[in-house]
Amino acid sequence: MQQATARAGANIALVKYWGKRDQRLNLPAAGSISITLAGLETRTTVTPDPALTADRFVLDGVEQPLARVGALLDLMRELARETVACRVESDNNFPTGAGLASSASGFAALVVAAAGALGLELSKRKLSELARLGSGSAARSIFGGFVEMAAGQRDDGADAVAHPLADPPDWPLEVVVAVTDAGGKAVGSRDGMNHTMQTSPYYRAWVDSVGDDLAEARSAIAGRDFERLAAVSEHSALKMHASMLAARPGLVYWNPATLACLHAVRALRAEGTGVFFTVDAGPQVKAVCRPGEGERVAGVLRGQPGVREVIVTGLGPGAAEVPGS
Ligand code: PMV
Repeated sequence: MQQATARAGANIALVKYWGKRDQRLNLPAAGSISITLAGLETRTTVTPDPALTADRFVLDGVEQPLARVGALLDLMRELARETVACRVESDNNFPTGAGLASSASGFAALVVAAAGALGLELSKRKLSELARLGSGSAARSIFGGFVEMAAGQRDDGADAVAHPLADPPDWPLEVVVAVTDAGGKAVGSRDGMNHTMQTSPYYRAWVDSVGDDLAEARSAIAGRDFERLAAVSEHSALKMHASMLAARPGLVYWNPATLACLHAVRALRAEGTGVFFTVDAGPQVKAVCRPGEGERVAGVLRGQPGVREVIVTGLGPGAAEVPGS
């Protein structure tokens, strides 16, 4: 056993995941397709320490409750037949409190670092399965570039794992993140999903339609067809939000700046710029751009009323241990 450090990039879904078929194992009700980002990263160090009586988890310098981090460590210690307590130190390189989801990069980095620290040699498939227990979207950050997550059919979740569709150099799209709210407390994805499942009359229609979107996105990615990927991605994002809006009470994640960015992206596309939007369970807008168009799109989004910060990045690699750490 030894200290190990891993890094993992955040990812954003183009075909969204929203709803579970099993709560305990975090099994998704449908598949999803995402891109892993280069610029927004979590770096996590796991240090097994026999002097500790319990695990500790420090995020961006602040001690946190163990919650799902502790549960994942328990499971991984069981796999390694170990009992040692661990110190987990995790840092995000993107502004904390910017309302950007960090659970995907966080849990992906955690399982890779914990595997290294506990001496577990695990396949990426197994790492993806473990990361999923922390957060559904984290299963995708194990891989880089374009990634598909399977809903799976098994009750134990062994087939609810991600796999890569294309590497970043195969189609180096750029991504512009427009931060429209620096830290407003939204309803978290776990609660938002459950609320939608329980109360939205559109939830079933949403789940039933994801299969067609996955097929369309897969084929657009294989053919590097930006227009088709743009159409299906905006459709998936808006349809997910429609299911949330129809919950009781409805979940409204957008603010006026969110909507201004959506219209700005569509106006840019109408003028011939290769760009489309997606929005997750929060008010930030992610604009996915053809290679070379990121800076231009960033300039336009920066000028939208209410936009506080714009981050330009690209596609990045999957989670990995940092050598020599
Ligand atoms: O993995 P979670 O529980 O943070 O849920 C992610 C939900 C969305 O970000 C809205 C969609 C997605 O597929 O990432």
